[in-house]
Amino acid sequence: MKILVIGGGGREAALVHKISKSPRVTRIFCAPGNAGIASHATRVPIADDQIDSLLKFAKENQIDLTIVGPEKPLSLGIVNRFREAGLRIFGPTKEAAQLESSKVFSKNFMRKYKIPTANAEVATLDAAYEKITTMKMPIVLKVDGLAAGKGVVIANNPNEAKAGLDYFRKIGKGTEDILIEQYLTGVEATFFVVADGEVVIPLATAKDHKRLMDADHGPNTGGMGAISPAPFFTPDLHEQVMTRIVRPTLKGLSDEGISYQGVLYVGLMLTNDGPYVLEFNARLGDPEAQVVLPRLLTDWIDLVDAVISHRLDQLTLTWEEQVAVCVVLASKGYPDAPQNGDEIFGLDQIKDSAVTIFHSGTKQEGNKIVTSGGRVLGITALGSDLSEAREKAYQAVGSIQFSGMQYRNDIGK
Ligand code: AMP
Ligand code: GLY
Repeated sequence: MKILVIGGGGREAALVHKISKSPRVTRIFCAPGNAGIASHATRVPIADDQIDSLLKFAKENQIDLTIVGPEKPLSLGIVNRFREAGLRIFGPTKEAAQLESSKVFSKNFMRKYKIPTANAEVATLDAAYEKITTMKMPIVLKVDGLAAGKGVVIANNPNEAKAGLDYFRKIGKGTEDILIEQYLTGVEATFFVVADGEVVIPLATAKDHKRLMDADHGPNTGGMGAISPAPFFTPDLHEQVMTRIVRPTLKGLSDEGISYQGVLYVGLMLTNDGPYVLEFNARLGDPEAQVVLPRLLTDWIDLVDAVISHRLDQLTLTWEEQVAVCVVLASKGYPDAPQNGDEIFGLDQIKDSAVTIFHSGTKQEGNKIVTSGGRVLGITALGSDLSEAREKAYQAVGSIQFSGMQYRNDIGK
């Protein structure tokens, strides 16, 4: 089978690595990929949002199956377009991906189908200035559309709320609706499921570490590290999430005439009143994919096949007994102004077979690999428990250097 993977970050590196182990796969292409992905896949120089060019490539190269990593092409309708052209593709349609691409759609949907989520009001940016003066703090402000991790501000008082709205205007979100949401307290966790339009099964749990610095200090990022499974997920909690959130979500979508095929990311706050949805994403997370996929023993192509051909009820997933820890190495200046072009040293020093290096923002320059983006590498280790996996991951991190390298020391602690 010839596979095309769309995207070029750490999540896609983990996907390509996983797919490369499938005996059913003869060749992998990745558009656009990165320097590390090139060891398993042929890179295709097409950006992930160039739907026409991606479709043309898939047709001309007789791609048997396309797997979409990031949210952008999903929100642009890549799945609709490929399907209309008779091509096999894994991921939700544009309509289904609205659960991620519009926070207002998602909030209204959750309200309608009584899925536990924070109370929220919707306002234009201008009207939001008025509205925040009447609200009990703290609040969470969110822009409606995709914002690559920049669209959420937590405000503890009216001044911070006003500054948050000013910031949204500054980053060009002035015309979008704003969600003004009640602040929830609890433990955050991610719950992944896979759906084939009718059947939905749990995939895995994970925990992301979103703030830049240790002990959750510093700005929000795309994710500085992750662990899987999430340690506090009891069987009872698992069942609560399936019963109160996952099944009603798939049923609600179906009532709206939307068939959800693909991975659904359920971002949860585990509160004293049970699990609440913070956000839905229409895809695997990054870095979460870098801890979920290395634990999965089932062939990813078998899973994708089961989804596309509506046979998910016949699939049983099998997993490594081990746990996974991923530490992200980010470039100098991340997340505000990442610096590019710094040579990365030590990539060939890591010999431990329990460790995998997933590239994300990297570029080949002659014989060198250099930084090219905010999050540069994800170092994933498997271990019999969290402390063993952590130890192996951090030992490997110690072998790698580049100028201005930033990482957290407390992933999985
Ligand atoms: P989101 O992109 O919606 O997941 O928001 C990014 C981060 O903001 C989440 O990972 C949480 O840490 C935080 N957050 C979002 N919504 C809430 C909320 N209602 N209460 C508390 N924290 C929140
Ligand atoms: N790590 C968060 C995300 O993928 O959205």
